Amino acid sequence: MSEPLLSLEQVSKTFRGRSTPFAPPSVTHAVDEVTLDVKPGETVALVGESGSGKSTLSRIALRLLDPTSGTVRWDGEDITRAHGRGLRTLRRELGVVFQDPYTSLNPRQTVGRIIAAPLRNQGLPRDEKTLASLITSVGLSPEQLNRYPHQFSGGQRQRIGIARALATGPRMIIADEPVSALDVSIRAQILSLLDELQQDRGLALLIVSHDLAVVRGIADRVAVMRAGRIVETGRVEQVYADPQEDYTRALLAAVPVPDPHRRARPLPVD
Ligand SMILES: Nc1ncnc2c1ncn2[C@@H]1O[C@H](COP(=O)(O)OP(=O)(O)OP(=O)(O)O)[C@@H](O)[C@H]1O
Ligand SMILES: [Mg+2]
Repeated sequence: MSEPLLSLEQVSKTFRGRSTPFAPPSVTHAVDEVTLDVKPGETVALVGESGSGKSTLSRIALRLLDPTSGTVRWDGEDITRAHGRGLRTLRRELGVVFQDPYTSLNPRQTVGRIIAAPLRNQGLPRDEKTLASLITSVGLSPEQLNRYPHQFSGGQRQRIGIARALATGPRMIIADEPVSALDVSIRAQILSLLDELQQDRGLALLIVSHDLAVVRGIADRVAVMRAGRIVETGRVEQVYADPQEDYTRALLAAVPVPDPHRRARPLPVD
């Protein structure tokens, strides 16, 4: 068994609101003692209802947010309190794809500049050949490097976001609801692009979704989150076939499953 690439141990995050003269500060346990590993090359889906803590946990893993307690390890190294230069390796090796391709791309920068940003931050070469190969790998063409985000459709913008995540040659990608802002008709294309890139490059992938149907086709393992905790985890086929928690069953029930028998039922005669 290989060692985990990303390892979250007993991680918690508490948000405190402001107190007023009339009320004490509100306290939200957004993430509550979560332990989760992702191995090299593994695709893990993090699913759960809105507000269950999925984005907070992703942001902790990306070290965009400090955990209140617990440990974050990258490739065996404790990076819980690392910052600045201490996060250099993580920034190169862990890519991120955001939910909304409309707000996550700077409208004033060309696509080439957007994709090159992580390379610039790392002081890595960002020659034309590198950028051309990046944009080609997500199904767009090098001529499009000089265009601006508004000249692209939602699905194409998310492809640009994926190219940016791939720029530094990461070992893992975290994608937080990568298709929920997209038209239903193009979701499958973006998911299969992520799946393809993951397989071709042997990437680890943590894909976050409130929709179990979205992740079924691409995940190896599922972690089900509720109210800041992971309540169930297992191989994807096992969780689908035999969910252990009522909450997971409810999440599964919310997914419309085409039922061929129901449709094939013969019309009543006479
Ligand atoms: N910066 C913040 N300040 C205060 N509370 C926050 C903050 N970020 C998140 N929360 C709270 O933490 C809880 C978990 O939020 P989070 O965004 O992680 O959930 P989620 O599972 O990603 O939900 P969604 O599916 O809607 O994206 C929620 O109750 C949310 O209101
Ligand atoms: Mg979220």
